[in-house]
Amino acid sequence: MTDIINKLYEKSEITESDLKKLISNDDFNDYLIKKAVEVRKKHFGNKVYIRALIEISNICKNDCYYCGIRKSNSVCDRYRLTKEEILECAQKGYELGFRTFVMQGGEDGFFTDSYMADVVSEIKKRYPDCAVTLSLGEKSFESYKMLFDAGADRYLLRHETADEAHYGKLHPESMSFKKRMSCINSLKEIGYQTGIGFMVGSPFQTLDNIVKDLLFIKSINPEMVGIGPFIPHKDTPFCGYSAGSADLTVKLISIIRLLLPKALIPSTTALGSISEGGRERGILAGANVIMPNLSPGNVRSKYSLYNNKLATGLEAAEHLIELKEKIKSIGYEIVTDRGDYNG
Ligand code: 5AD
Repeated sequence: MTDIINKLYEKSEITESDLKKLISNDDFNDYLIKKAVEVRKKHFGNKVYIRALIEISNICKNDCYYCGIRKSNSVCDRYRLTKEEILECAQKGYELGFRTFVMQGGEDGFFTDSYMADVVSEIKKRYPDCAVTLSLGEKSFESYKMLFDAGADRYLLRHETADEAHYGKLHPESMSFKKRMSCINSLKEIGYQTGIGFMVGSPFQTLDNIVKDLLFIKSINPEMVGIGPFIPHKDTPFCGYSAGSADLTVKLISIIRLLLPKALIPSTTALGSISEGGRERGILAGANVIMPNLSPGNVRSKYSLYNNKLATGLEAAEHLIELKEKIKSIGYEIVTDRGDYNG
């Protein structure tokens, strides 16, 4: 097993069967983490980048079976931030020291391309030293291009699963794997720093699926990779499925670090939500990004993708000082620069 890890460490290369062995055998997890941390330290030292997450709308036209803000969830209390509210969030974030703003939301038709382009360019005008990341779902090449031209630097669109049949089990027929792939290709082609990723332990996910996800991620060579455990939401068709494992998520973060040494890998809210200290474990396994929540207090609990999502405490952008202390106590340091991909 150490030979597989060493090969991954030295060449960032691995075969399907090696990955299967590595994932199913937990006896060498400490060695895997040690190597992932070595690689992470080589490229990033002990730096942890922070991104201010602004959840701009929980209105969504899609009906993903796992997601709490899916269209058919009639008990979801819907909201949409105004342009002014988004700009207020950005100001607050800037003052707190954030230099990346992530605007995330459901696929909400109210936010047209020109509306969002306006918001993006206003933020870039006010804070030219900041990066803007968008996470607004599937759009046409032209729409992505327009937002890029307005100043957006990065885009997060998780592939969710690299297996077409599995994709079909997580999404209604109106959504397609091919469309997802074409969106990811568009983002890359346009020049966005692009983030993809998947849920660990989503319903029907097999070991083969995970291996496929990892090889897919390697082949795309994205600037960012976000993974987190699946966590059931009570008002979705997947309410009865069990949550993904924090241990496996942490392990996969280490493998992804070795596959993509220079990637920006968040220790996600889902990982922090599912287990006490989960977010710190992610950092200690090779993740190098944290995305505290900067949405206005009154909407924070409404952006409920899954149950028990952390929104307060150290998860909240206001508590940056405490978060810095916490990260320092595990031997890392939160820095406030843009934290761009350095390929
Ligand atoms: N559990 C964990 N992650 C979820 N997401 C959506 N619903 C859930 C859930 N129930 C993730 C998806 C999506 C991202 C914004 O949140 O991967 O891409």
